[in-house]
Amino acid sequence: MLEKAEELTGLFKNKAEQAKKSADIEKLRVEFLGKKGHLSSLMQELRNVPNDQKKEAGQKINDAKQFIENAIAKRLAEIKEFEEKMIVEQAEAYDESMPVTTDFGSYHPITLVKNECENIFRSMGFTVEDYSEITDDYNCFEALNIPKHHPARDMQDTFYLSSGQLLKTHTSAAQNTILRKYKSSLEKGNPIRAIFPGRCFRNEKIDACHENTFFQMEGIMVDKDISISNLIYFMKTMLSEVFQKDVTVRLRPGFFPFVEPGFELDIQCLICGGEGCSSCKNSGWLELCPCGMIHPNVLMAAGIDPEEYIGFAFGLGLTRLAMMRYGVGDIRMFNSGNLKALSQFTDKSFKKPEDEGRHN
Ligand code: DAH
Repeated sequence: MLEKAEELTGLFKNKAEQAKKSADIEKLRVEFLGKKGHLSSLMQELRNVPNDQKKEAGQKINDAKQFIENAIAKRLAEIKEFEEKMIVEQAEAYDESMPVTTDFGSYHPITLVKNECENIFRSMGFTVEDYSEITDDYNCFEALNIPKHHPARDMQDTFYLSSGQLLKTHTSAAQNTILRKYKSSLEKGNPIRAIFPGRCFRNEKIDACHENTFFQMEGIMVDKDISISNLIYFMKTMLSEVFQKDVTVRLRPGFFPFVEPGFELDIQCLICGGEGCSSCKNSGWLELCPCGMIHPNVLMAAGIDPEEYIGFAFGLGLTRLAMMRYGVGDIRMFNSGNLKALSQFTDKSFKKPEDEGRHN
């Protein structure tokens, strides 16, 4: 027993010399002094020592324990001092004139797709509008022909703020503001052509194809003589540009209180090519862009005479578009903050949009 206590002290000394970091010392502490550590087992062996030797053996174990405790405290203090010194030295060695060696950042895939769409729509004469993420009941619902208690409100599980405002559930929430902004210009003979991309929020259960925070891009065009064919033309042109090929789309009737008639514009799933996969819930199609002809009540709410003017609106799912554009099978990747995954998207044809074109 006496030798064993000495052996243990020897073993500790060896290991302590090799310990270089405070984490190594912590490991040693557990190994020697922990509940299931060497010293504990030695204490248990004390039971088997003959009574007349117990006292001396106990004393030896205690000495060893004391020694190890002290040595750990001492070594830890030394290491800590060294570590702190290194930090200071490194800070002092910092030379701001040295060339930067860190990697450059990368654009988020949704930013890439958003910028691409902005560029395409700009080239077709649309302005790009910014709009707040916080809005109110009037803009998000009422002005869009969704009165209180309308069942359509249940389609969008809204996050309300304690201020009585809410987080916008769709980019349509900016329609009233933008229509008002360009009303007088419209009356002077200039059609309204505007897109307003933005982040939207809904209290949704998250899975591979649903997120509570996602991006849409709303578009409106209002003039004296607009028809559904104008809408189809703009959507087809834009999607073919984004995907650099003729995409297959279909229109289905869809109900939205702020358009009449309303449609669902579906795009054939580009991940599975229409075969069916988890992203398109095995249907081969993805709902990409609900749209329609702006409801007269929406124009009226903005002070525009529906007898004289007509327009179309669409709400493009930007997040969905990014999934298809880059073949991303799980929507959760976008908000994951996983830089390794998010930095792999690049776009050589991507041009940074010019800021002058942006209307705030
Ligand atoms: N705001 C609708 C939503 O997020 C989408 C939408 C439907 C927008 C039809 C439109 C439209 O502009 O015409 O559910």
